[in-house]
Amino acid sequence: MYNACMSTQKTTEQNEAWIAPSILAADFARLGEEVENVLDAGADIIHFDVMDNHYVPNLSIGPLVLESLTRHLSNRPGKALMDVHLMVKPVDRLIGDFLDAGADFITFHPEATEHIHRSLTLVKEGGAKAGLVFNPATSLEYLDHVMELVDMILIMSVNPGFGGQAFIPASLNKLADARAIIDASGRDIRLEIDGGIKTENIAQAALAGADTFVAGSAIFGSADYAHTITAMRRQLQHN
Ligand code: DX5
Ligand code: ZN
Repeated sequence: MYNACMSTQKTTEQNEAWIAPSILAADFARLGEEVENVLDAGADIIHFDVMDNHYVPNLSIGPLVLESLTRHLSNRPGKALMDVHLMVKPVDRLIGDFLDAGADFITFHPEATEHIHRSLTLVKEGGAKAGLVFNPATSLEYLDHVMELVDMILIMSVNPGFGGQAFIPASLNKLADARAIIDASGRDIRLEIDGGIKTENIAQAALAGADTFVAGSAIFGSADYAHTITAMRRQLQHN
């Protein structure tokens, strides 16, 4: 079980915390406005969930929507970072499309590609940051031979496919394990948690080593995005 002594695995070099609203929970009829609203409310990066009704039992949005969003946001000062979470199989065919559409991070599930090293390389050669996503029952051993290509590790705290599911507590142990792997590597790798994150449990995830926090329903389902993001950040400051 996760316990308090694991907090010693959190190092002083840990990246600053990023809050990443998942637009899966946004109002798609007003998507551009919704994304602007969460950015104005203090979001650090936008989490863009891509589901294909094959790797996961749901269908969401693709590169055309990302391209429209990137264009819509281009008049804002500073680049709005786009964190593309691919829940698709196969993976490689879509990487180029998402690079062209403006992805800054592209993460995918190792089980969904035949050649993990090749897929990571495609992302990096395209100029984006690359990451692997681990389902609740997927082993971190997939990292063993590709750490030099990884810029982000995403730990799923729900089974992928739907927003609004309950946080799986065992993912805290997995976060702590991933944090130890990152620290041992000495590399600058973001550790992201995705699924069921709310103001009430975000501090636990941070204590276990996460530095990037996806939240869909907790933010877009709230009446005041700035209030919710500020409340989450306040929880993180107490760590
Ligand atoms: C699940 C997605 C998540 C999801 C998060 O497959 O990858 O990003 O949208 O939504 P909440 O925060 O509502 O669990
Ligand atoms: Zn996601």
